[in-house]
Amino acid sequence: MDSAGLRELLTFYADAGVDEPLSETPANRFEETRIEAERRKESRPGADRTPAPAAKAQASPRAAPSAVVPDDAQAARAREIARGAETLEALREQLTAFDGCNLKTTAKNTVFADGNPAAPVMFVGEAPGRDEDIQGLPFVGRSGQLLDRMLTAIGLDRSSAYISNVIPWRPPGNRDPSPLETEICRPFIERHIELVAPKVLVTLGNPSTKLLLNTQTGIMRMRGNWAVHRTPSGLEIPTMPTLHPAYLLRNPAHKKLAWRDFLAIKLKLEGLGD
Ligand code: URA
Repeated sequence: MDSAGLRELLTFYADAGVDEPLSETPANRFEETRIEAERRKESRPGADRTPAPAAKAQASPRAAPSAVVPDDAQAARAREIARGAETLEALREQLTAFDGCNLKTTAKNTVFADGNPAAPVMFVGEAPGRDEDIQGLPFVGRSGQLLDRMLTAIGLDRSSAYISNVIPWRPPGNRDPSPLETEICRPFIERHIELVAPKVLVTLGNPSTKLLLNTQTGIMRMRGNWAVHRTPSGLEIPTMPTLHPAYLLRNPAHKKLAWRDFLAIKLKLEGLGD
């Protein structure tokens, strides 16, 4: 393949969200398919067992990325580990060491949080994207820049707000996390919120709203209405569901709705006093 063809192929992959190699070594899938077909042929009864010379030369397997199969046992393990974390630092350490979620195998960093954990308000998004994965911090890419502008508009910044995500590892190619992956990550964000105990919680977008408010109602109906997040130990936190900044970048006409929600958050925070 010439370099123009290769560039076109890579652009196609990037557009499809395939923008991360999973291994240091490139894989020749055509050759793997051919070898596999030969192997099958050889293993048929009566087949000549001498491997073809080309197959012999290529047969050393690529190092497979170590992956765990997410299952209910991992979700139970996550619940136990998260429950046992007595401080935010302990939770961060436990989460960084946790190996029960497949998403971690392709992520560069565990994205825990940014901002001030003593702030009265905590924002929770969905999952890190490419920039967040590289920097290890939530909301630092384009949607993070919009979030920063929205915070500024109501007199907040990352020293007066705290920011995290439901999922701490970037899903490959920014795909949606599976329900089981979300279930495995759920105890960590729930414990995270419990340890921070913000006076006000803000869920950004559908996934975090559905998970943290335990609802199937979509964000367009939920947004703008105060709801309550109940932590596992029974703490009740006033919660404002609002539109995700990434959604607002795609649908700028809806920024006025988010603005209303942010004004409600500002009023609520002012009402809390100091
Ligand atoms: N979108 C999210 O939900 N979280 C981030 O950290 C970045 C983008």
